[in-house]
Amino acid sequence: MFVYPSIFVLLMWYDTIIGIDIALAKEFLEKGETVGIPTETVYGLAANALSEDAVLKIFSVKNRPHFDPLIVHLATVNEIEKYVEQIPAAAQKLIEAFMPGPLTLLLKKKNNIPDLVTSGLDRVAIRVPQHVLTSALLQQLDFPLAAPSANPFGYISPTSAYHVYDQLHGRIPYILDGGPTEVGVESTIVGFEDEETVIYRLGGLAQEDIERIVGNTRLQINSGSNPHSPGMLNSHYAPRKKLVILEADSNEVTPAGNAGFIGFDKADERFKSEHQILLSEKGSVKEAAKNLFAAMRQLDASEVAMIYAVQFPENGLGKAINDRLKRAAAE
Ligand code: TXA
Ligand code: MG
Repeated sequence: MFVYPSIFVLLMWYDTIIGIDIALAKEFLEKGETVGIPTETVYGLAANALSEDAVLKIFSVKNRPHFDPLIVHLATVNEIEKYVEQIPAAAQKLIEAFMPGPLTLLLKKKNNIPDLVTSGLDRVAIRVPQHVLTSALLQQLDFPLAAPSANPFGYISPTSAYHVYDQLHGRIPYILDGGPTEVGVESTIVGFEDEETVIYRLGGLAQEDIERIVGNTRLQINSGSNPHSPGMLNSHYAPRKKLVILEADSNEVTPAGNAGFIGFDKADERFKSEHQILLSEKGSVKEAAKNLFAAMRQLDASEVAMIYAVQFPENGLGKAINDRLKRAAAE
């Protein structure tokens, strides 16, 4: 029998197990390892948020720069006050309306959150995910989970356990398989500056829904040099292949014969049928969001040389879809 040299064993997992064993996931996390976890938005790469050593593993598995802070995931909203100094009134309303759910709040952190998690910033990103397996796991742990999306830095977020396996196998011991994710785009990130509610990342909770609860919001996204949210860099969520956004109803482009197409509800005869993916034949932006990242991955792995995508209507999750397409198209 071949025996691995010990240094190899330290750095690599021989293989990664995919399963639904919460007790096993818990065991790895308690040992300070990283585990792939399902949420309603995308899969996360989780580790003990209160252990610097465990959090360091997240950065190294993902190849993520330490200046890009991590979201802390809690079992229930009741735990929020353990980790944050204060909850502004608008935050409280959003917590009551949308948590658990696809919403992340930036709140002033307490000292029990390691600086490594927030990259030295004084706010921590807090989220209560809504997924049966991950909620059960979080309930059984006596620490919260720091988790970025479970993809290599800059690539498309995973929306199934197989996406995680595809890119991180051999680097993590376990992936908890909660099936394909319901929402399909990352959480909406919201913070509070003076009296304003600010949206830093469009995501699975629509701006309109937030505004129904707290009134006007200010969008502060897409500032490529914004040091507070490096993960919102212009080029992010990107396939390896070039992606080009087709303006609505634009017929000027003559796509090459082997280009792929991501459409909303209508096919486009300029593309071969086998190279087309429609995100929602019934025209639902919600369903389209759920299918977006898998479609990008599928075309990235296919024979097409490049990918065209249509622009989505700027309402509901359509805004988040357009944001992700723009970043995927950025050079
Ligand atoms: O839906 C989601 O939010 C998923 C699931 C796994 O929860 N997580 C996720 O994490 O998308 P990540 O790390 O891929 O994206 C989190 C974003 C990053 O752009 C990061 O810069 C920003 O949140 N962020 C995290 N903590 C922050 C903080 N303290 N201040 C400002 N931005 C922060
Ligand atoms: Mg990410």
